[in-house]
Amino acid sequence: MSFTTWNNEYSVGIDEIDDQHKGLVDCIANLEESIEGVDEKQRWTAVHYAIVQLTDYTRIHFSVEESLMRILGYPQRDAHIAQHNIFISFLKNVQRKSITHDISEDEIVRYLREWLLTHILRDDKQYAVWFEAANSGGARRMT
Ligand SMILES: [Fe+2]
Repeated sequence: MSFTTWNNEYSVGIDEIDDQHKGLVDCIANLEESIEGVDEKQRWTAVHYAIVQLTDYTRIHFSVEESLMRILGYPQRDAHIAQHNIFISFLKNVQRKSITHDISEDEIVRYLREWLLTHILRDDKQYAVWFEAANSGGARRMT
C-alpha cells in the first residue's frame, strides 16, 4: 500500500489552512503506516494512537475553519459544520471501536482518506473561493 501524500491540487490557496490540511494528510499516512509497518504485537497501540491523533487534529482544524466561517459570515456555514459533525461522530466511533477491535480493515481507512480529500477538494475549496471574494469586497457579509 502506498501511503497518502499531499498533492498541490488539494491547495485551497490559504497557506494556514493548507498547512493544517497537510497535517491531516500526515495523520492519515501515519494511520496507514501503523497498519502496514508495525509488527502485530505493537499494531493495536500504534493504530489506536494514530486514530486518537487524527481525531484530535481534526477537531482543532475544524474549529479553526468554523471560527473563520463565523467571523466572515460564510452563508454555507451551517451545512459545512453539519458535515464536520458527521465526520467527528464517525471518528469517535472508530476510536471507541479501536479499543476492542482491529479497525485496520481497508474500508475504514479508505473511508477516512476519501472523506477528507473529497471534503477538501469540494467543500473547503468552496469556502476558500468565497473568503477570497469576501476579502476583496465581492461577497456580502452576513454579520
Ligand atoms: Fe471543512
